[in-house]
Amino acid sequence: MKKLHIGMNRDMSSSFLDLRMANRHGLIAGATGTGKTVTLQSIAEQFSEAGVPVFATDIKGDLSGIGHTGKFNDALRNRARDLGIEPYEPKAYPTRTWDLFGEHGEQIKASVKDIGPLIMARLMGLTPTQASVLNVIYLMCEKRNMPLNSLDDFRDALSYAYENAAQVSTDFGYVSPSTIGIVQRGIATLENQGGVQFFGVPEFDVRDLMQTSDGLGVVNLLAAETLMSSPQVYAGFIMWLMQKLFATLPEVGDPEKPKIVFFFDEAHLLFQDAPRQLLVTIERVVRLIRSKGVGIYFVTQSPTDIPDAVLSQLGNRYQHALRAFTAKDQRAVKAAADTFRPNPEFDTKDEITTLGKGEALVSTLNSNATPSMVEVVKIRPPRSHIGPVEGHPPAPTPKPTQPTQRHHGGSPAPSGSLPGDYQFLKTAEVLGVLLIGVLIGVGLTLIMT
Ligand SMILES: Nc1ncnc2c1ncn2[C@@H]1O[C@H](COP(=O)(O)OP(=O)(O)OP(=O)(O)O)[C@@H](O)[C@H]1O
Ligand SMILES: [Mg+2]
Repeated sequence: MKKLHIGMNRDMSSSFLDLRMANRHGLIAGATGTGKTVTLQSIAEQFSEAGVPVFATDIKGDLSGIGHTGKFNDALRNRARDLGIEPYEPKAYPTRTWDLFGEHGEQIKASVKDIGPLIMARLMGLTPTQASVLNVIYLMCEKRNMPLNSLDDFRDALSYAYENAAQVSTDFGYVSPSTIGIVQRGIATLENQGGVQFFGVPEFDVRDLMQTSDGLGVVNLLAAETLMSSPQVYAGFIMWLMQKLFATLPEVGDPEKPKIVFFFDEAHLLFQDAPRQLLVTIERVVRLIRSKGVGIYFVTQSPTDIPDAVLSQLGNRYQHALRAFTAKDQRAVKAAADTFRPNPEFDTKDEITTLGKGEALVSTLNSNATPSMVEVVKIRPPRSHIGPVEGHPPAPTPKPTQPTQRHHGGSPAPSGSLPGDYQFLKTAEVLGVLLIGVLIGVGLTLIMT
């Protein structure tokens, strides 16, 4: 059974991540500066070595180094030697950089139709009442075969609904001219903030993320520095990406190795202020996507940032140091410690506060899907460059050699335990999500700056 080398346990044995269990999701947590991003980089390198493509959000630009050979100093060489990594040679990994704004990497495009009313409403910060107009507009476009690709198409559809408000209200549901005006202004804001590039065709195909180059999994980076100034957009985009994967990938059960692995940094933004029904949707996506061979690793400061229903599905845990200055900190430390299967050799809670940089408490799933006993692990140093690369250039696009999971036939694959494409966007439940979800978009001065 193939395993990824992660580092060395305190008893000098090696720490591994079982590739068959890597689609059982994971968590990388820890206070600022404790080593989360480098752990992500190191694990991503190992996935790439195993031919597994990776997608990671590059929040601070400090993951861009993965596409460049490392510049080793004595500390890194000594660390590698201590961990028994011989030889320890610098290496660059095939990297592809993506950008919603098309500035720092390849453009990701999505049609307004594909984004769907739920996420569009969040992006525009519409109230539930305003958002209900979007459902009418989407329905009208579908029934009348009106294009809904670009923001221009969206504006045309709104103008049509405005001019024919009585008829559209009778046929598809009530639209008020004043609300249409508000949505039109929302489009203008989206345009000003870079949405023109993002919305449109040709649509981004998630299978483009699933490539290998000379046997190495391609590491896809989402340049997210600008995106982070619009947390709701970041969250909306990630939601959309997960939906796309759902709709596109066939059911594979538990494969020998994942088809692709995602690392979502600043994961707390996905859950922050999210209404319950939206959390239910995310929780369901995370649960079902596993059997499509997709592993999702959330990166955040504290496990308490992640809702319990999601946290309980994250089988592979890397917990870096947490601080315990305040009573709240101490509760977070205890909560983090309680998620681990104890090791009689040490007290998990005490260890969390004393771990060094680049050390983590680690528990991964065994081949029988049970969590391993927690260990203190020194994480292996990456072979690629640590930290941002000067000028943040887009890394060279690798020659794709073999899409790892292309579903042939042009139409979306059957989605297994999910009843159909975007089913959850069509259910009454998710209409509820739409209505409640937009509440958290209020106050958001959106997008794409
Ligand atoms: N496994 C490791 N091998 C070698 N050096 C490491 C390792 N982990 C961490 N470091 C060192 O620690 C520094 C900080 O790590 P990193 O940037 O990963 O922290 P972080 O938890 O992501 O911080 P932040 O929350 O601010 O993003 C790195 O720049 C590197 O010098
Ligand atoms: Mg970091």
